[in-house]
Amino acid sequence: MQIKAPRGTYDILPEQSIKWQWMEKIIKDTAGQFGYQEIRTPVFEHTELFERGVGETSDIVSKEMYTFQDKAGRSITLRPEATASCVRAFIEHGLYNGLLPVKWYYSGPMFRYDRPQTGRFRQFHQFGVEVFGSDNSLLDAEVIILMMEIFKGLGIKEPELHINSVGCPSCRPGHRQELIDYLTPLKDKLCKDCQQRYMTNPLRVLDCKNQSCHQTITGHPTIADSLCPACTRHYEQVREALSENGVAYIHDNNLVRGLDYYTNTAFEVHIPGLGAQSAIGGGGRYNGLVKECGGPDVPGIGFALGMERILLAMEASGRLIERSAALDVFIITMDDKFSRHALQLTNKIRQSGISADMDYNHRSPRAQMKFADKSNAKVVIMIGEEETEKGFYLVRNMQSREQYQIDQEDFIAKLQTILLKNEEEIG
Ligand code: HAM
Repeated sequence: MQIKAPRGTYDILPEQSIKWQWMEKIIKDTAGQFGYQEIRTPVFEHTELFERGVGETSDIVSKEMYTFQDKAGRSITLRPEATASCVRAFIEHGLYNGLLPVKWYYSGPMFRYDRPQTGRFRQFHQFGVEVFGSDNSLLDAEVIILMMEIFKGLGIKEPELHINSVGCPSCRPGHRQELIDYLTPLKDKLCKDCQQRYMTNPLRVLDCKNQSCHQTITGHPTIADSLCPACTRHYEQVREALSENGVAYIHDNNLVRGLDYYTNTAFEVHIPGLGAQSAIGGGGRYNGLVKECGGPDVPGIGFALGMERILLAMEASGRLIERSAALDVFIITMDDKFSRHALQLTNKIRQSGISADMDYNHRSPRAQMKFADKSNAKVVIMIGEEETEKGFYLVRNMQSREQYQIDQEDFIAKLQTILLKNEEEIG
């Protein structure tokens, strides 16, 4: 029987990976401009990290984790997100003793056992940032500005930024109780999930995707009404800073996020035309998380973007132009007996920093030319009887279709000139 990739996973073949590389470069360059540096953490961690970090009542921990026992009987989980891993690394390396804030970015695969559909996978990719060591509201604004700059750089049209404040441990319990009191008489009208969670995690009822729950709770008490003075001020400052920097946002009373660690600012970006999985990114502050995970009381904030959804959004914006890898040079042999010479020449060209390839499948010169064309080679070099005897190469510029005989002496420098001229002409 044929073995296929597991459900909810997929391969990124070269014609796609070139788009990924382009997208990742823009994202990482933008993060670099904002002073963020890359962190790479393991793709698996001790299960307890996510239970404590993301929270046991969240869907991610209660239903979606890939958890298994390793050979020594330890419970291990494939990371469903990377914030908890960054927090662990921040604590483990004692970075709270160093220069703060620490500004990190990461990208890589995440794993969630959910029902696959368009834009939702079991192995998917996130780009994210995490900042530790400052509770300045201007930093909240910076993190959101960075996210919006990334969308701009990628040409994503009209990303809709939703923001809210989810309060802090001093104002949240009041709102939580108000919400439970409000939801209790409505209990029977809620969906099964909400009936189970309205007592343990009533905030999650607010962002239930079920339309009838949504309608049932239209008049719910909002967090905004219960915020303590410090949280109110913080949220106001974030909103002011966003406006001062030209970032448009929607204040969204229902935005609570699906992970338990958030405090104060929470945000999400939606692309309305993207269908059910319209959130291309989300994040917020998590001032209690470092402490919760065993570190000192250091505040944090960050976001993560779903890379697959970003690609879908770019496609929808008409920005995802077909890209193909272009090879500088393809070497064609007029006869198989020149192939050893071809390999030496190919390597010499590569060592000079020019990309080059040749035929290994004993194709006819005609078929090699077709192959060169398909590989988008800019220049083709032909080696045959006459060329080897007289000490030159026949070079065809595939863009201008011009053909030259170039002396084998000083060949690389001349080749570089041809490639450079082509680039200048393309602009
Ligand atoms: P999240 O909202 O769970 O937040 O995920 C962030 C983004 O990852 C989502 O907006 C979505 O685009 C993408 N995503 C999530 N699940 C899937 C899936 N199954 N398939 C495809 N894409 C998906 C977090 O993960 C937090 N760690 C963000 C954060 C960082 N908060 C603070 N710092």
